[in-house]
Amino acid sequence: MRDAGTAREYMVRRMPSVLSAEEIRDANTRYHDVAADHYDSKWGIDFGEIGRSQVSTKVRKALGGEPPRYGRSLEIGSGTGYFTLNLLLAGLIGEATCSDISPGMLQTLQENAARLGLEVQTRVADAEHLPFADGSFDLVLGHAVLHHIPDLPRAFAEFQRVLSPGGTVLFAGEPSRYGDRLANVPKRLAGAAAPVWRRAMRAARATSGGSASDESLEGVVDVHAFAPSELSSIARATGFEDVRVTGEELLANWFGWTNRTLEATAVPEDVPWAWRMYAYRGYLLLQEVDRRLLESRLPPAIFYNLMIAARKPA
Ligand SMILES: C[S@@+](CC[C@H](N)C(=O)[O-])C[C@H]1O[C@@H](n2cnc3c(N)ncnc32)[C@H](O)[C@@H]1O
Repeated sequence: MRDAGTAREYMVRRMPSVLSAEEIRDANTRYHDVAADHYDSKWGIDFGEIGRSQVSTKVRKALGGEPPRYGRSLEIGSGTGYFTLNLLLAGLIGEATCSDISPGMLQTLQENAARLGLEVQTRVADAEHLPFADGSFDLVLGHAVLHHIPDLPRAFAEFQRVLSPGGTVLFAGEPSRYGDRLANVPKRLAGAAAPVWRRAMRAARATSGGSASDESLEGVVDVHAFAPSELSSIARATGFEDVRVTGEELLANWFGWTNRTLEATAVPEDVPWAWRMYAYRGYLLLQEVDRRLLESRLPPAIFYNLMIAARKPA
């Protein structure tokens, strides 16, 4: 699973106002190069049945129906391969190319692919300057990446250029601005309850989480959080059709952030296995509740993650 707080999104989502686009890209490369080694375990990335089902479900939700089998796909900001490798395993894509600004992430992706017996092309690339010919792909996709990209209209123009006519663009796991604000409530409550929770778990208090440089970079790699209309406007302005923006994860996310906030205050080795299992299973269960009961009934803006799907005119 995308572990508690999933959304795999980082602890800090703020708008750096003083950095240039180049500095943001550089921070992203360095931050994700360092993160690559422990990324899968940190975020509970799974390449088994759970991962396959999570990713296929996200694609289905984003499209609003059963996905076709896509011939050639390009993933943007593919990281260690969560989306593409699981989609290959699920048989939803034929030939896969993965791109990322971080060589370290792509190295881990290749190791994951080799372990799973999958073939994938990888290419270090910035989303705003894709090194691919016009019309090379039937699907351009990504997960948790748009919010890192400084110039989104430029990136969307690139997605459109490398897509074949009638091709699909699909992004999931993007932070929703209002969903993010709502998630502050469980985070604050969990922060206040942390001393009692640590006593109950017999866990010692953590002295510090991560290195100072990691933390400072974490604050600058996240450039955007979106209102649904902002995402759809960018896609429409680029010329995409059939634009669809949806939201996912509400209760699962509140539960996840509560647990992540509590856990972050304790020495990791002191957090009992039984607690971790409770957090993991509870999160999966609430994902189901969100999916079955809430996502089709409530406005996308209040969910924690947004997804967008659209089509290049044929
Ligand atoms: C939050 S991670 C998500 C990784 C992966 N998609 C997943 O869901 O596990 C964001 C990824 O986007 C990449 N990234 C950040 N800025 C980028 C840019 N301008 N162009 C391409 N990739 C970028 C990072 O290196 C990182 O691998």
